[in-house]
Amino acid sequence: MDERPVGIFDSGIGGLTVAREVFNHLPHENVVYFGDTARVPYGTKSADTIRKFCKGNIKFLLTHGVKLVIVACNTASATAMGFLREKFPSVPIIDVIAPAARLAVLCTKNRKIGVIGTESTVSSGSYEREIKNSGPDIKVFPESCPLFVPLVEEGWFNRKETVSIAGEYLKDLKKEKIDTLILGCTHYPLLRETIKKIMGSGVSIVDSGGVASECADVLRERGLANEGKGKGWHKFFVSDNPEKFKKIGGAFLGHQVDSVEKIDIEEYS
Ligand code: DGL
Repeated sequence: MDERPVGIFDSGIGGLTVAREVFNHLPHENVVYFGDTARVPYGTKSADTIRKFCKGNIKFLLTHGVKLVIVACNTASATAMGFLREKFPSVPIIDVIAPAARLAVLCTKNRKIGVIGTESTVSSGSYEREIKNSGPDIKVFPESCPLFVPLVEEGWFNRKETVSIAGEYLKDLKKEKIDTLILGCTHYPLLRETIKKIMGSGVSIVDSGGVASECADVLRERGLANEGKGKGWHKFFVSDNPEKFKKIGGAFLGHQVDSVEKIDIEEYS
């Protein structure tokens, strides 16, 4: 029985959609969540900068004695995994790309998968590579949707402006008749209903939540799981603006975020 916490980080608030799945799937695990709200967004930054930020984030989580790290940010997962695994060989680090790609491959019948994400995620080609590993015959259609993150942070989940922007971003994917769509960004699950309406009921929607069962598998295989019966504790840290995190975090997490502590992430660079 290993009571050390699982560490989760994201560029900000969006990773709470991943934390939510982890809390549901692994209720006994203690979790430390870090949102890099001072340096968000990562999606428009260069790979070098994203890697440097991620290194600091993991250094911070390690000060809390985490036994595993989930990179809950798609942009970071798409850009920094090799680098991070090399820098921190003693802690298992898992990403959100591989589980979602595997699930999408299982879902698709017509072998046409769409991927939406930030500019960095889409231009990295990570989803495409991961999908082709399991299904070389599958056609992948990537599309970056840079306005989705600010729309979600404004709480504009299904306003008419959002529906019209989403219609514009998704029109080529509709034309290509994909039957599976990966929401390759932490924020997009909050637009699920809007996206579903545009794409139609014949399109399966896959998000990053699958990482929770991947996390359970890795903990079990490595003998790191907390087999206790009690409910795990959850701690939240941010690098800026804890009040905003508390205010809008509930929509991402599914319940109120009670307490958030601000830390100076520059100390961990
Ligand atoms: N967390 C990021 C992602 O999943 C979205 C926000 C950002 O650009 O930092 O790609």
